[in-house]
Amino acid sequence: MAPVVFLDRLNVLGVLCAALLGNVLATSCDCGYSLNQTNATSYALFTDLMETDFLHVTDLKAAGWTPQVYNVTPTAARGPYGKMALLENVVPNAVKNEWDWAGESVNGGDAGLQVYVRADPVDDMIPMGELVIQRTDMLLGSFRVAMKISSAAGTCGAFFWFRNDTQEIDMEFLSKQLNDTSNPVNLVLQSPQSAEAGYDASHTQTYDIYPLPFRPDDGFHEYRFDWLEDRVSFYADGQWLKDMTIDLPNSAGHLVVNHWSNGDPGWSSGPPATDAVLTVSYVKAYFNSSDAQRQRDYRRRCGKWDPQTQCVIPDQTRAPGGSNATARTFFFSADPDEVGNQTVFADWPNESRRSVDGGAEWGMLVFGVVVAAGAGWLGLV
Ligand SMILES: *[C@@H]1O[C@H](CO)[C@@H](O)[C@H](O)[C@H]1NC(C)=O
Ligand SMILES: *[C@@H]1O[C@H](CO)[C@@H](O)[C@H](O)[C@H]1NC(C)=O
Ligand SMILES: *[C@@H]1O[C@H](CO)[C@@H](O)[C@H](O)[C@H]1NC(C)=O
Ligand SMILES: *[C@@H]1O[C@H](CO)[C@@H](O)[C@H](O)[C@H]1NC(C)=O
Ligand SMILES: *[C@@H]1O[C@H](CO)[C@@H](O)[C@H](O)[C@H]1NC(C)=O
Repeated sequence: MAPVVFLDRLNVLGVLCAALLGNVLATSCDCGYSLNQTNATSYALFTDLMETDFLHVTDLKAAGWTPQVYNVTPTAARGPYGKMALLENVVPNAVKNEWDWAGESVNGGDAGLQVYVRADPVDDMIPMGELVIQRTDMLLGSFRVAMKISSAAGTCGAFFWFRNDTQEIDMEFLSKQLNDTSNPVNLVLQSPQSAEAGYDASHTQTYDIYPLPFRPDDGFHEYRFDWLEDRVSFYADGQWLKDMTIDLPNSAGHLVVNHWSNGDPGWSSGPPATDAVLTVSYVKAYFNSSDAQRQRDYRRRCGKWDPQTQCVIPDQTRAPGGSNATARTFFFSADPDEVGNQTVFADWPNESRRSVDGGAEWGMLVFGVVVAAGAGWLGLV
């Protein structure tokens, strides 16, 4: 019995030391996450990340997201119906076996976060789902969602970055537009121009309908936009679609996923004939922060620029769904060594939840106390 206990204690000391060292030594992505190698003709570097693996999330708030609750009257929603955002329309639906990436889900249907639009209006409003990310300091970045759009006609499914009504970057899907011959994604920058047009961006230069080479309601695909100083570039499954270069946002905002309908025949139409579900399997955000403390954190952890402590963000170039093998995609957050001093909300298979938030001083203090306590317990002090 005694030797086992001894090994156990040595083990614990090892873990404590590793934790302590992890906070002192540089981790591999301390100088940021980049689009392209930093010696490429052109690249963009971001200091912060937030990745959410909805295939394994059971608690949205703990994962860094807030489901929304609000009512918008038909008049304010500019449609025959208003919008009623409800908690119950945002439903985590993880894969049943936490070590799998595909297969049976907890509630049935496709695994991932389910966002519903309901068929039956309530008080002239159509029940819908919306969730926002908890970070509001996103200023430039590469933003990615993997989702499967509803095939029930009469909804709008959207992934967007939002500051306010004149600074917004949108990828929107109208389920009524999806069929075997046409599968458009609506690309929109809301701008002062679209505000003047009564928030109808379709008559502005920062609106485009891009025909996709696949059916967005047949499976999961990655939709992505890179917001850089001089352009917003849109992608689907890693294929470049379009750049927009005017009316770019210039201040920080946050990410939103929603699925809604207001019956407007010129846009969402609806309500859908049956309850309609949009399913999200991940959101990955690599961005710069507008927050002064996060900027100081970056300068402190990166120090003198060193390309060795900078990581390239992989491109997702195939549809991220289907089998166990193809639904598994890359997350820096799965490796603590690649997310030092980042906010990480993880629920990785067979690993406990980690939160490696900023504030190394506090981290050092806590680890110091823990190590001292551990050493005391080992009889070393
Ligand atoms: C990365 O490289 C690709 C291919 O050369 C290019 O199209 C893209 O604009 C580059 N991205 C950035 C952010 O520079
Ligand atoms: C993001 O911030 C870092 C650190 O300040 C900077 O080096 C980098 O160029 C910024 N990225 C972009 C795309 O402006
Ligand atoms: C799915 O993949 C994971 C890791 O990639 C593996 O642990 C698991 O056993 C696989 N499940 C099936 C059903 O193949
Ligand atoms: C949106 O934010 C920008 C930057 O802060 C500001 O200049 C603009 O007036 C805002 N627009 C609205 C409609 O509030
Ligand atoms: C497919 O949708 C497009 C755009 O909504 C429409 O113009 C076209 O007629 C539809 N095709 C079929 C076969 O339904």
